[in-house]
Amino acid sequence: MKRSLWGDGRGLDESIAAYTAGDDRRWDQRLLRWDVIGTMAHAAGLARIGLLEAAEHAALAGELARTLADADAGIFAVTEDDEDAHSALEHRLIDRLGELGEKVHAGRSRNDQVMAALRLYLRAELIELQREVIAAARALLGFGRANASVVLPGFTHLRRAMPSSIGLWAAGYAEVLLDDLGPLGAALELADRGPLGSAAGYGAPLPLDRRGVSDALGFAAPQLASTAVQLSRGKLEAVVLGGLWTVARDLAALSWDVILYTSDEHGYLVLPGELATGSSIMPHKHNPDVFELTRGRAGVVAGLAVQAMAVAGSLPGGYHRDLQLTKGPVMEGIDTVRAMLRMVADAVPRLGVDAGRCAASLSGDLLATDEVFRRVRAGAPFRAAYREVAAEIAGGAVPPALEPAEVLAVRRHLGGAGAPALDELEEVAGRAERRLDERHRAASSAIDRLIGASR
Ligand code: ARG
Repeated sequence: MKRSLWGDGRGLDESIAAYTAGDDRRWDQRLLRWDVIGTMAHAAGLARIGLLEAAEHAALAGELARTLADADAGIFAVTEDDEDAHSALEHRLIDRLGELGEKVHAGRSRNDQVMAALRLYLRAELIELQREVIAAARALLGFGRANASVVLPGFTHLRRAMPSSIGLWAAGYAEVLLDDLGPLGAALELADRGPLGSAAGYGAPLPLDRRGVSDALGFAAPQLASTAVQLSRGKLEAVVLGGLWTVARDLAALSWDVILYTSDEHGYLVLPGELATGSSIMPHKHNPDVFELTRGRAGVVAGLAVQAMAVAGSLPGGYHRDLQLTKGPVMEGIDTVRAMLRMVADAVPRLGVDAGRCAASLSGDLLATDEVFRRVRAGAPFRAAYREVAAEIAGGAVPPALEPAEVLAVRRHLGGAGAPALDELEEVAGRAERRLDERHRAASSAIDRLIGASR
C-alpha cells in the first residue's frame, strides 16, 4: 500500500497494511463502479448545498463519468497501492483534479460509502439472481410438461410410498424455487435504503441533502437514523445469504433426487453422456458429479451465511472493521448460487426419462394405498379399508396392477400427480418476472439519469 487516505502521512507498516486489507481489494473490485456512481450522487448533493460551485461540480462529474467508463473497461482498478476501492477512487480524483478532488469527501466517510456501493451492487445482483431463479423454475416446468404423464414412485424415508409423476416432481421444485423469490425479495427491500450522509455513523455538521442523494440513486427511501446504517451492515449480508441458501437448498434436494433416480437401481431418469463424469479406474462409470457438487455447494452457502452471522452478531453498534469480513462471504455466495442455478437450468432439460423403467415401477407395494382408496371411493370407511388391505398384504396378496393412466385419473385434485398445476406455476413465474422488470426499470433509470447528467 503506497498511500492511505488517513493518518499523518507517516504511512502504515507494510505487513499490518497487508493484513488489514486481506482479500478486501479483490472483492472491492466489484464495488468500484458502484462507488463511482454513489460518488456522483454525493457530489451533486454537495453542489446543491453550496459546497461545490456549479463549475466545480461539472468538472468533478465529468471526471467521475470518465472514471466509470475506465472502471467498466478495467482500465481503472483497485491496486495493491490502494487500501480499498474508496481509496483508489479518491486518489484518482485528487491525481486528476488536484484541490477539487480533495473536496469530494466532505460529509462522507468510507463507512457510508461502502454501504452505498454494497447496496447498489446487491440490488443489481438480487434482481439478476431472481431472474436466474425464474429461468431455473421455467426449465423445470418445461421438463415437467414434456413428461407430465410419466408415472414414477414417490418416496418417503427414501422408501417406495405412492405413485407420483414427473410432472409433479418438476412442479414441486419449480414452486419452491418461485417461493424463494420471497426471501430474495425481502433482502432486496433491505438493500434498497440510501445510506449516504450517515458518514462514519453519526452524520456530519453540514446541511446534507440525504433524501436527494438517496433519490438520485433510485433507493426506495433513505435510511433514516444515521446510526441505523452501520447496524445494518453484516445483517443484510446474512439475510442475502439466507435467501441464497433457500435456493441452494432446493437445488441440493433436486440434485439428490436426480442422483438417486439416475442410479442403476432406480433408473427413472437418465444422465446423458455429456453430463456424466467418469472414473479413472472403473471404465463403466457414468457419475453424477455435477449434481453432487450442486448438493455439496448448498452446504458451502450455509457456511457462508454462518460466517456473516457470526461476524455481524458479535458486534455492538457503530462501525467496526470486522464488518469488512462479511463482504467476501456474500459475494462468494452470489457467485456460487448463480452457478448452481445456471447448471440446473441447463442440465434438467437434458435429462432423459426411461419410460419403461418408470412404467415397470408401478406395481406391488406402491399400489397398496391405491387399493385402499379404491375401496374408500366405493363407500368403505378409510380405517377399515386400510386394515383389510394391510391384512391381505401381510397374508401375501399383491395389490392389483394399474395402468399409469388409471393412477393419474384418480389424482386430479389440485397439485396431484395427474394435475400438477404446471400452467398455474407458469403464470406465477410470469407475474414474478413482470414485477422484477418493473423493479429493474425503476432502479436502472435513476442510475442512468445520474450517469447521463455527469457526462
Ligand atoms: N474497506 C473497508 C470496509 O469494507 C472500508 C471502510 C473502512 N473504514 C474504516 N473506518 N476503517 O469496511
